[in-house]
Amino acid sequence: MDTSRREFIKKALYGVLAFFGLGFLISGVKMFAPAADRAKELAFFPLAHEDEVPRAGVRKSELVYTVSGKERRARVFIVSSREGLAVLSATCSHLGCLVNYNREKGEFVCPCHGGRYDLGGNNIAGPPPAPLARLPLKIVDGMLYVGVKV
Ligand code: FES
Repeated sequence: MDTSRREFIKKALYGVLAFFGLGFLISGVKMFAPAADRAKELAFFPLAHEDEVPRAGVRKSELVYTVSGKERRARVFIVSSREGLAVLSATCSHLGCLVNYNREKGEFVCPCHGGRYDLGGNNIAGPPPAPLARLPLKIVDGMLYVGVKV
């Protein structure tokens, strides 16, 4: 093997090592970046005026919010009970169908596979593996706001 060929192979090998080393370095920096940079932010969107919040019982509502400039909509339930005020997602934790509220039974019922949830959103029967998502809320100046990760 002549010298120029050996030099070429040596430089090519260094180039490959530098390429992979740089990639490893970049992925390492990303891995140790603060978690807040990678996590989605919680943003609050208006859901209802305080007057529209039931004093007792359940009210179906639609949350309109934006993610990256795109409008999104989500069906939710405003629940007022002895435990206080809660906003529950209407999306079933089994396969994502929208649940309905059965006033007579005081339960949320999924029309797809019969999953049932109590007033607190806890899964009590059927295939749902988890409760209905409970959304963070706050009341500011008479308006109910709901938190969504965007
Ligand atoms: Fe609700 Fe299956 S999607 S029970």
